[in-house]
Amino acid sequence: SCKQVKANVLVLGLANSGKTTLVNCLMEAGDQEVVPTVGFSMEKVHFDRCKLTVIDMSGQEKYQPLWEMHYTDAKALVFIVDAANPASMPQAAAALEAVVAHQETQGLPLLVFANKMDLPDALQPAELAEQMQLPQVAQRAFHITSCSALRNEGVQEGMKWLAGQLQ
Ligand code: GTP
Ligand code: MG
Repeated sequence: SCKQVKANVLVLGLANSGKTTLVNCLMEAGDQEVVPTVGFSMEKVHFDRCKLTVIDMSGQEKYQPLWEMHYTDAKALVFIVDAANPASMPQAAAALEAVVAHQETQGLPLLVFANKMDLPDALQPAELAEQMQLPQVAQRAFHITSCSALRNEGVQEGMKWLAGQLQ
């Protein structure tokens, strides 16, 4: 039984956390130069048996109000954190809290990437989960894993969990 799943996946996180770099990994366009996203961009991606429409939002504060426009159609949330930037944790945690508090995201599975693990002193996923108080905040199926979107390491493994949630 190879039922094809179609789903919108919403990719969120602060500016510069690595969202577009990570989405490029899924498109096997990992070597492309990235520029800050303006508004959002949408990409069709095949992963496992899923046909995903990946919505890569801008993390800039002026664009964050756009995130909620995509909640209704989303089947899953990906939240990317720059694990090598500890100073950004409170802001990242606040942004995630606002997302999960929203009525329309209730119950959507949440995948958190601790990105930039290639950099020295990047926080481990467990440390990051503690700083962001993830179990308490998430209140849904969630998974946290580390990756380096720059090196395309750990991205596919994380997405496997998400795909499993969509089956
Ligand atoms: P916005 O679109 O502005 O919200 O940013 P974004 O989250 O899409 O970040 P983007 O993918 O544009 O990456 C921002 C910067 O971080 C770029 O210079 C990337 O090369 C770099 N970057 C992304 N992922 C990694 C990583 O895993 N390791 C390292 N060292 N740098 C990374
Ligand atoms: Mg971007």
